[in-house]
Amino acid sequence: MNTASFSSGDVLADRRANYARALAESGDPAAAVDLMEQALELVPEWAGGWDMLGSYAEAAGNVSVAISAWRRLEALDDEGVFGAKLKLAVHNAKPADHGTAISYVEALFDQYAPRFEDSLVGKLGYRVPDLLDELVNEEMARLGVSHFDKALDLGCGTGLMGEKLRPKVTHLEGIDISAAMIAETARKGIYDALHKAELVAALNARRADADLVTAADVLIYCGALQPFLTALMPALKAGGLVAFSLEAHDGEEAVFLRPSLRYAHGVAATRDALIVAGLEVVRFETAVLRYDRGQPINGILVVARKPAVDLSAANDHDNDGDVAA
Ligand SMILES: C[S@@+](CC[C@H](N)C(=O)[O-])C[C@H]1O[C@@H](n2cnc3c(N)ncnc32)[C@H](O)[C@@H]1O
Repeated sequence: MNTASFSSGDVLADRRANYARALAESGDPAAAVDLMEQALELVPEWAGGWDMLGSYAEAAGNVSVAISAWRRLEALDDEGVFGAKLKLAVHNAKPADHGTAISYVEALFDQYAPRFEDSLVGKLGYRVPDLLDELVNEEMARLGVSHFDKALDLGCGTGLMGEKLRPKVTHLEGIDISAAMIAETARKGIYDALHKAELVAALNARRADADLVTAADVLIYCGALQPFLTALMPALKAGGLVAFSLEAHDGEEAVFLRPSLRYAHGVAATRDALIVAGLEVVRFETAVLRYDRGQPINGILVVARKPAVDLSAANDHDNDGDVAA
């Protein structure tokens, strides 16, 4: 998050913070730490300033100063907009709760929205919507269906996944926690409806009305998969599909928080979680999703299906949808 955009309310402190940011960007985070400490002497209650100090100290390799700064930040930032808990958890200074830091994610994407596509697609080689779309198309071909009645695109962002889905969905809804991301996508007119909501809460408010649910590069901000899967199952129609991506790791842990403040999911544990939730796994692939600081980010791509266990429901669905068993 570009915390420098949050003013301290003090001209001199802001000036020092701006110099500090310039120093950090020019590769001298240690000097930036000194200047931020001077700025914070003037405005000790400035949450954004403590966050900047923490980031610069971390970049300078001074983890103990970073942790102290984020502890101050945590005490000042009641809403959790700056993600202090996540930053402390990454450095084992706080237990990780493996949940969604809702206010942090919302603020992050509210700031990121205007440059999201240029940055992610243009510079970081982001290709999750293409990869998921390809898998969904292959599954549709296998099932012999040509369209879905109703799809929900969770964490729709600026609509990159929605653009892929649009030709094959009669009613397409987008859900996102960030108002600024929704405003970006609203301009494009891709979705039939857009909702500003947290995705688990949004799924919990629905009952068996979706033929397809997608979440492209979204669950990496949500931590443990179980709350999502528990909310998903009743929201999906029998026979409906879910397609989503995760960042992958090969270890034993089901999920852990990366220094990027995104969650990585274990390959084996993810497969198990899908089965435990009652989904039939139809595609489970690993692929490079994007690049981060020049390094490939490996991910998991999933297409899974809610079994048509309830035959009466499945028969009803056969009459009004395309993907029922
Ligand atoms: C990396 S962007 C991906 C956007 C889009 N799916 C795409 O592929 O371009 C992640 C999006 O998920 C949204 N998001 C993250 N966690 C969310 C949650 N728990 N509920 C709703 N939206 C969420 C963010 O606001 C952001 O717009």
